Amino acid sequence: EERHRLHLLKAMDLAGRLYHHLLTETEHGKEAREYLHDRGILSETITQFQIGFAPDSYHFLHPFMKRRGFSEEVLAEVGLVSERERRGKPSYFDRFRGRVMFPIHDSQGRVIAFGARILGEGRPKYLNSPETTLFQKSHFLYNLHRARKGIRSTEQAVLFEGYMDVIAAWQAGITSGVATLGTALTDSQARVIRRNTEEVIICYDADSAGESATDRGMDVLKQEGCIVKVARMPKGMDPDDYIQERGADAFRSEVIAQAVPFTAFKLESLKKDYDLRDADGRMSYLNQAVGVIADLPRAIEKDHYLRRLSEEFHVSLDALKQEQHVAASKKR
Ligand code: UTP
Ligand code: MN
Ligand code: MN
Ligand code: MN
Ligand code: MN
Repeated sequence: EERHRLHLLKAMDLAGRLYHHLLTETEHGKEAREYLHDRGILSETITQFQIGFAPDSYHFLHPFMKRRGFSEEVLAEVGLVSERERRGKPSYFDRFRGRVMFPIHDSQGRVIAFGARILGEGRPKYLNSPETTLFQKSHFLYNLHRARKGIRSTEQAVLFEGYMDVIAAWQAGITSGVATLGTALTDSQARVIRRNTEEVIICYDADSAGESATDRGMDVLKQEGCIVKVARMPKGMDPDDYIQERGADAFRSEVIAQAVPFTAFKLESLKKDYDLRDADGRMSYLNQAVGVIADLPRAIEKDHYLRRLSEEFHVSLDALKQEQHVAASKKR
């Protein structure tokens, strides 16, 4: 069992090295090298992240790996080849073709899967390894093994949506970045983060998908006991776009350093649902806002945000405190 597992890991390791070699050392990798260069990825980063390239062929990796002693069953088990029926017999072909390969590592730095981006336009944009014996995507975070040092030293993790965001942020000096693997953040991933740090900055894309993922992610992280902040960018941008357009310094000082605490962010985004020019709208907002505050675990936090509301809306702190007690008792 354990021997089999090591064999699977060896297959992934060798595939990763082959893809990386193809990208960095051969003519086949030229177009992908140019693509990455145009996206601002330095060759040093390509080495650090072991980025690779899978050529646009159905039979490149598969025969190579067979010659190296990996059976088709094993290659299919780790998701490197796919299987189809041909005249009643199974026939195998490379899963990843014509794509930039981002190896996904476990917490010990062993390759367990790949995220693969098409060069330019096309669907799907990213193709990931399927769920395998080695890889359950709801339990792993991209880049965790590399980011651990940065997370420990800054005492915070930054959570991104995409591989390219993690990598662009790394080049911009944010080395505590991790990402989920094309799905919403799970409890299990939040627990992994919490084991490494208490504070987490969510830095998702500034589009509607990113916003709803932020809402859900905040709650999942909070549930696991994290202190959550939210980084904000101009509408339509993702962290990688921001860094390309405005540079590393701006990303660190305007986006990461200005991340807004969980409660302030929640109160701010709640405002968009109400017409605050109207007295009824303001009352409804205050009612909801007090509900958010009632969820806070600590009295000093509650007090802080109630005072802010009181000043902002010219209502007495006493009234807000009473409402907060009512809201809190309803929740119990
Ligand atoms: P995005 O579409 O925001 O990707 O998806 P991106 O990282 O900004 O892509 P670039 O900059 O165009 O290269 C965010 C993440 O969602 C997953 C991937 O993990 C991706 O990094 N995803 C996205 C998929 O799994 N499949 C897709 O087709 C698209
Ligand atoms: Mn997006
Ligand atoms: Mn994006
Ligand atoms: Mn992007
Ligand atoms: Mn919202």
